[in-house]
Amino acid sequence: MRVDIFFKKKAENKKITVLTCYDYTSARILSRSEIDCLLVGDSVAMTMHGCKDTVAATLQMMQFHVQAVSRGAENKFIIADLPFLSYRKSKKSNIEAVQILMQAGAQAIKLEGASGNLKLITHLVESGIPIMGHLGLTPQFVHQFGGYKVQGKTLETAAQIKQDALALQEAGCFSVVLECIPQLLAKEITEMLSIPTIGIGAGPDTDGQVLVWQDFLGLNSELTPKFVKHFLNGEALFQTAIQDFIQAVNNKEFPEHEHCY
Ligand code: KIV
Repeated sequence: MRVDIFFKKKAENKKITVLTCYDYTSARILSRSEIDCLLVGDSVAMTMHGCKDTVAATLQMMQFHVQAVSRGAENKFIIADLPFLSYRKSKKSNIEAVQILMQAGAQAIKLEGASGNLKLITHLVESGIPIMGHLGLTPQFVHQFGGYKVQGKTLETAAQIKQDALALQEAGCFSVVLECIPQLLAKEITEMLSIPTIGIGAGPDTDGQVLVWQDFLGLNSELTPKFVKHFLNGEALFQTAIQDFIQAVNNKEFPEHEHCY
């Protein structure tokens, strides 16, 4: 799977499917599916490390998880998030951060926001690296936003997001994630851009959809933002299996003869 799947699917009016992935075992499962693309998101800080936001993600954390995912899903197009501030330092340091993630096994890089990033994006694209933009509720800006709030609800903020989307396309991004913005705004941006939009909390009209693996599997029943759909009741299934194991051990029903040497 390569970056051209994004352009091909947009041209054919087919939806692009993306799931986040952070570990080898999940990557192996996803590698045997028809999913278009895996995103090693900086949400890893929350989903795998229990941090309260993505501001906690580090380059080393991202590197470890990209390596694990790329070992499990060699056949998939893997995008890695540049973590908080890793692309807001010197040009040298920004490029080193990208190099670390690409050499860890990513085939593309995602970064949040447009303002202040455009020169770096163009430089990276000219260096052969596919770049995905990310607009709307960009979680690395959580403290500036004052929480996880829908963005682009006023005429002014919607116009700014549209302008940023065009700037990202102009800078050379191959795609842009639109997170938590009104459905109509996402539709307008999708129609306006020639590059595909990938939505999360942005309605059904984007060119594709992305979900966080743990949300998709329903592994955290306490966390259900409006845009999340659990495609599996994972937490309940895990609890049942754990209880079955405890009971089987207590009743000496496990291990059985076939499990013994
Ligand atoms: O880090 C992440 O998981 C993301 C997706 C929500 C798009 O950026």
